[in-house]
Amino acid sequence: MQRPEPEKPNAEGEPTASQRSHPAAVKYDFMVVSNRLPVDRDVQDENGDDSTNGWKRSPGGLVTALAPMMTKSEGAWVGWHGAPDETVRPFSHGGMDLVPVQLSNEDVELYYEGFSNATLWPLYHDVIAPPEFHRTWWDAYRKVNKRFADAVVRHANHGATVWVQDYQLQLVPRMLREARPDLRIGFFNHIPFPPPEIFAQLPWRQAIIDGLLGADLVGFQRPSDAGNFMRSARRFLGASVKQQQVHVKGPDGEITHIARAQAFPISIDVEQISELARTPEIIERSRQIRKDLGNPATILLGVDRLDYTKGIRHRLKAIEELLNEGKLRVEDATLIQVASPSRERVEQYRLLREEIEGTVGHINGTYDTIQNTAVRYLHHSYPVEEMVAMYLAADVMLVTALRDGMNLVAKEYVAARTANDGALVLSEFAGAADQLKQALLMNPHDIDGLKDTIMKAVHMPAKEAARRMRSMRKQIMDHDVDHWSADFLMALNEKVIRDDT
Ligand code: G6P
Repeated sequence: MQRPEPEKPNAEGEPTASQRSHPAAVKYDFMVVSNRLPVDRDVQDENGDDSTNGWKRSPGGLVTALAPMMTKSEGAWVGWHGAPDETVRPFSHGGMDLVPVQLSNEDVELYYEGFSNATLWPLYHDVIAPPEFHRTWWDAYRKVNKRFADAVVRHANHGATVWVQDYQLQLVPRMLREARPDLRIGFFNHIPFPPPEIFAQLPWRQAIIDGLLGADLVGFQRPSDAGNFMRSARRFLGASVKQQQVHVKGPDGEITHIARAQAFPISIDVEQISELARTPEIIERSRQIRKDLGNPATILLGVDRLDYTKGIRHRLKAIEELLNEGKLRVEDATLIQVASPSRERVEQYRLLREEIEGTVGHINGTYDTIQNTAVRYLHHSYPVEEMVAMYLAADVMLVTALRDGMNLVAKEYVAARTANDGALVLSEFAGAADQLKQALLMNPHDIDGLKDTIMKAVHMPAKEAARRMRSMRKQIMDHDVDHWSADFLMALNEKVIRDDT
């Protein structure tokens, strides 16, 4: 990498003003590209408190997974900084070099809220909400993907490795291959890839598959996602697929390269979460949380972005019926539901918020006493320290996603339970179910089954809980996020042996 020696940080460990921006001409051997940078522009709060230095951590699992790797590598991260119509120069933050891509208000509306989150997101999540197809959204998606690809082209050294992330940028691999055949191009899809029968609805299905096939390696969360992708490549592009290799043909029908499609289940920084869970202040904070809730016998916890894929309605329905039947009593059990604000200008998300908040109000109005609350609903996001305190305070973790690429919250809960106690109720439709086999797995559509599973978790004998938790902790300790990125990057840099048999 060609860049000048960095200055020393100031006494607070924060970068100096000159360190925050770095020359636009710097080039890198390794680049990560995702819709969002790991930090979002933060507007100062009303009191003028700028304790975040103008930036706050971005939402979602992608950042959770990639930030640890990026702080250890010498690469750069290309992405949007979260503020529409604002131009920000390349800068460094938290030990990472960041290259911002600008989005106008219109780009946000058409490319981000529109095509990414009202077309692709519902289509890729089992059409839980109906996807909308608009040609203007597609045009914006193409245009913005090109802008991301151009930023990489400007900053990548010859022969650099580029790792493109997630459904917002599926055209970037092909754009990069055309502009810069010298690059090694990887792509990772953090969300599910739908079966061809559903993917078929997308009017631009061929262009999306072709965009992804620009990569040398296309990674997915589950083997079934990789399988779905390969079946779509065969069906919609007529590609020849042998085992995990897709033979990509050029315009004359000759094979230009081989793209591999494989599963690499993502994980978390297990050590970081476990260490926080052993910190006396955080343990104390978890006790305080229990105390503030009146020390109920059981605290149940849900932690999600407020998204219709997460099955929050199903969870609330189950809790409400259990309260109604007297199997749970408000004096003994409280559900803490953290629902972090997400995509608030997208219609489906607005509707969901209204529905969830109406339901919570209804449950609390019916079952609360002056002293006790059935559901403590928190429409906020919290720093990781507070999240770990909540994980420690919770006897039962509820992950009831209707469809989820992975669900890192489930893994974080397990990482935080260093005493091998607590119970995890986990949807079989979350990618995490492939790895956390000792969780209490269930189908969230089956409300009776969900209720039974919740009661089993509430009454689980300590011995059984310990056996399950120990086995899940071993799994995640052996497969943390460093393994994930190392496995992917090793596979990306392997020479492909062409399998023509
Ligand atoms: C999921 C997606 C990410 C996305 C995150 C937050 O984890 O896989 O790509 O960044 O949600 O969503 P947002 O729309 O706020 O970026």
